[in-house]
Amino acid sequence: MVKAEIIVIGSGIAALKTALEASEHKHVILITKSNIRHGNSYLAQGGIAAAISDRDRVSLHKKDTLAAGQRYNKVKAVEKLVEEAPSVIAELIESGMQFDHDHDGTLLLGMEGAHSERRILHSHGDATGKYIMEHLIGCLKKSSITVMEDVTAVELIIGKDDSCIGVKALDKAGELVTYHAEQTVLATGGCGSLYHFTSNSQMVSGDGIALAFKAGAKVRDMEFIQFHPTLLFVNGKAKGLVSEAVRGDGARLVTETGKPIMEDVHSLKDLAPRHIVAQTIFSYIQRGEKVFLDISMIKDFKNRFPTVTSLCEKSGLDLELGKIPVAPGNHFLMGGIEVDESGQTSVPSLYAVGEVACTGVHGANRLASNSLLEGLVFGNTLGRFLAKVPSRSIPQEKEQSKCSSQISFLPDFTTLQEKLMNEAGIVRNEAGLTRLKDYLETFNIEKLLQMEVTALPIQEITKINAIIVAWLIAESALTRTESRGGHFRSDYPSEDDTQWLDNSVILACTDVK
Ligand code: SIN
Repeated sequence: MVKAEIIVIGSGIAALKTALEASEHKHVILITKSNIRHGNSYLAQGGIAAAISDRDRVSLHKKDTLAAGQRYNKVKAVEKLVEEAPSVIAELIESGMQFDHDHDGTLLLGMEGAHSERRILHSHGDATGKYIMEHLIGCLKKSSITVMEDVTAVELIIGKDDSCIGVKALDKAGELVTYHAEQTVLATGGCGSLYHFTSNSQMVSGDGIALAFKAGAKVRDMEFIQFHPTLLFVNGKAKGLVSEAVRGDGARLVTETGKPIMEDVHSLKDLAPRHIVAQTIFSYIQRGEKVFLDISMIKDFKNRFPTVTSLCEKSGLDLELGKIPVAPGNHFLMGGIEVDESGQTSVPSLYAVGEVACTGVHGANRLASNSLLEGLVFGNTLGRFLAKVPSRSIPQEKEQSKCSSQISFLPDFTTLQEKLMNEAGIVRNEAGLTRLKDYLETFNIEKLLQMEVTALPIQEITKINAIIVAWLIAESALTRTESRGGHFRSDYPSEDDTQWLDNSVILACTDVK
């Protein structure tokens, strides 16, 4: 058994920022199921939003965030995000992070969908996530934090006082390692790879949400999934993200014959909120039409967008033709483990931060480039809180009756991904969501929640977690009988403020029958 004051599970921007701040005063162990460079933060392209230009205002950033979130956001969390953005960015720059700037040192600010000003800081063009992560990894190396790679968290440990006292994990060799900690942080990201088309790393499959749900934490807003409008789409497969910043620099969405598709759909045209653009592209694809990004007007595309260029080249696309084929896919989860503004879940001593958490900051749809920002701002707050949290003695583990881990059949991952894409995708309805939920319930969700998993192979545990998270999505999407932001129901196509603006779907494992 290994002991730490704080254990952080995950290795994206929120995990690193939390761990770094907490390690100022505490012994922190960070575990990650893969390699520290394999998560979503590393893949982030567009950048990080902050109202720092003379023309911009924090109040405008707030207004844009609320408008993208369809007014469903928690306003206090939004205020925290936008107000603290300039200072967390300044601290990052002071600690040596380099964002792109012009010859006289003025920061270059990009434009993205639904922003009313240019406020997106970026690094090495469209490789912002990679360079912020490399900067934080550099800080990590100088810190006292113990980093354990290839260690997969499989079960949170609950103490006799019902608080979280750590995590059971499997190392690369499949050996069980028990970590006891005074405070446990989940920073495992969302669940993008549960969908057939996604911009996410294959590592990001919702396991933090399943672990927390099984441990008794409340999970909220799981119906709100953001589909990014433009994934590179080659031979029927999504091949990675084509940043919204490409449209910010003037690219337009067109049909094969060159007809612009966003012209009469929204006043912001190609830079309309993501759900509107994604739904529009989806409707063309459903009719059998192909959709492209016309990039012919962007000068020096290869230098401004080296990551997109390299993705396209790997797929054999000739960018000189000025067209990139695109389709929408799962990009971001607005819901997650319910937390307050300091990151506390409904289970004492268990915290969640970043995409795995639901602070309510993004409402029904996240504004572009607010996700790296969320990781930094909320990671900063949680890390500083944990640095000062009084020490406690760890109680004994609670005895819990578990069922045996005999499972007869689990689906293959591709089947699950296709079902989620088809039945809980960009357009949902009662019939499809019911089909999905019925299918998932054939695996006996109640049993999966109580199952002793530590003796199973990691792949099986990942599937069990995936089924649980898919069920949370299906159940939440069925319950919300309206359309709002990332949740579009063809059978309830309008927003219903009276019933739903102030109402959330919150699920706990005691609701599962
Ligand atoms: C993008 O570059 O389009 C993604 C950025 C984001 O999701 O915020």
